[in-house]
Amino acid sequence: MRIADFAGAWAVVTGASAGIGREFAEQLAAHRVNLLLLARRGELLDTLAQALRQSHGIQVQTLALDLAEADAVNTLLKFMGDHAIRPRLLVNNAGVGRWGRFEGGDMAANLRLLAVNAAAPLQTCLALFPVLAAQRPSVVINVSSQAAFQPMPFMAAYAASKAFVHHLSLALYEEWRGQGVYVQTLVPGPTATEFDALAGAYPSQLAGRRDPAAKTVSASLLALAQQPPLVISASGTVLQRLFAALAPTKLVLDKVGQMFRPPDQA
Ligand SMILES: NC(=O)c1ccc[n+]([C@@H]2O[C@H](COP(=O)([O-])OP(=O)(O)OC[C@H]3O[C@@H](n4cnc5c(N)ncnc54)[C@H](OP(=O)(O)O)[C@@H]3O)[C@@H](O)[C@H]2O)c1
Repeated sequence: MRIADFAGAWAVVTGASAGIGREFAEQLAAHRVNLLLLARRGELLDTLAQALRQSHGIQVQTLALDLAEADAVNTLLKFMGDHAIRPRLLVNNAGVGRWGRFEGGDMAANLRLLAVNAAAPLQTCLALFPVLAAQRPSVVINVSSQAAFQPMPFMAAYAASKAFVHHLSLALYEEWRGQGVYVQTLVPGPTATEFDALAGAYPSQLAGRRDPAAKTVSASLLALAQQPPLVISASGTVLQRLFAALAPTKLVLDKVGQMFRPPDQA
C-alpha cells in the first residue's frame, strides 16, 4: 500500500488547523486525497481548504467543531452523511496538553483533555469502522506520543490520555488488519508546533530542539508500505521507550518528575 493509491479517496483529519494535522492535510492533498478537515478554528480551516483546492484540484470540506463537546462525533457523522463523504483514511490527530501539578481543581479542563485526546479517537474509530472496512484497504492513523510510554508526573492527565489511545490503537491494529483496515499508532518526536506553549509548558522547556511537522508526517505516510503497528518518527524516542520499559518504576518516575517539575517548585 502507498499513499498514492488513495488519490481520489476521502480522508478525515482532526486537528487540521495547525501543527501536525495541518501538515497531514498538506501532504495528503499533494497526493490528491480529498479532505474533510476538522478543528475548532473554522477560519484557519477555510483558508487552508481554499489553498489546497487551488493548488491540488481536490475536494476539501471543513467542519468547525469542538471535539470536547458531548455530541461532537455524531455531528461529524451527520456532516459526512450530508456531504456523502465515505472516508478511506482517518487521522485522529487533534490533541491538547496540560503541564503542571495535578491539583487546583480545574476539573473542566481535565475532562476536555480526556474527551479530545482519548474519547474522540475511540468514538471515531468505532463509528467509522464499518465505512472503512467496506472500502478496504483503508487506514486509521492515531497520533500517540512519547508521553504514552510511561506515567509523567506534572503532565499526569496528558500522559494517561495518550497511554489510552496508544493501547487502544495497537490493539485495533491486530483486530482489524485481517479486515483490510491498517491501524497505525504514530509517535511523533518533539515537534515544532503550537502544542507545548498552549499546554502551559514552562519557558525553560520551550527552547529544546524540535523536528518540523513534515518529518513526522512523512514518516507516517511512508510507513504505509510496510504497515508496522507502531511508527516512531524520532530516534531519541526509541531510547526513551527502552528506558521506560526496562528501568525500575521508581527510577522512571523520579527522572520524569525531575524533568517536568515546575521550575518554581524544584
Ligand atoms: N508537538 C509535539 O511535540 C507532539 C509530540 C508528541 C505527540 N503530539 C501529538 O500530536 C497531535 C497534534 O499536536 P500538534 O503538536 O500538532 O499540536 P497543535 O499545533 O497544538 O495542534 C493541535 C490541533 O488540535 C486541534 N484541537 C485542539 N483541541 C481541539 C478540540 N477541542 N476540538 C477539535 N480540535 C481541537 C487544534 O485546532 P483548534 O485549536 O483550531 O481546535 C489543532 O488543529 C496531538 O495529538 C499531540 O498530542 C505532539
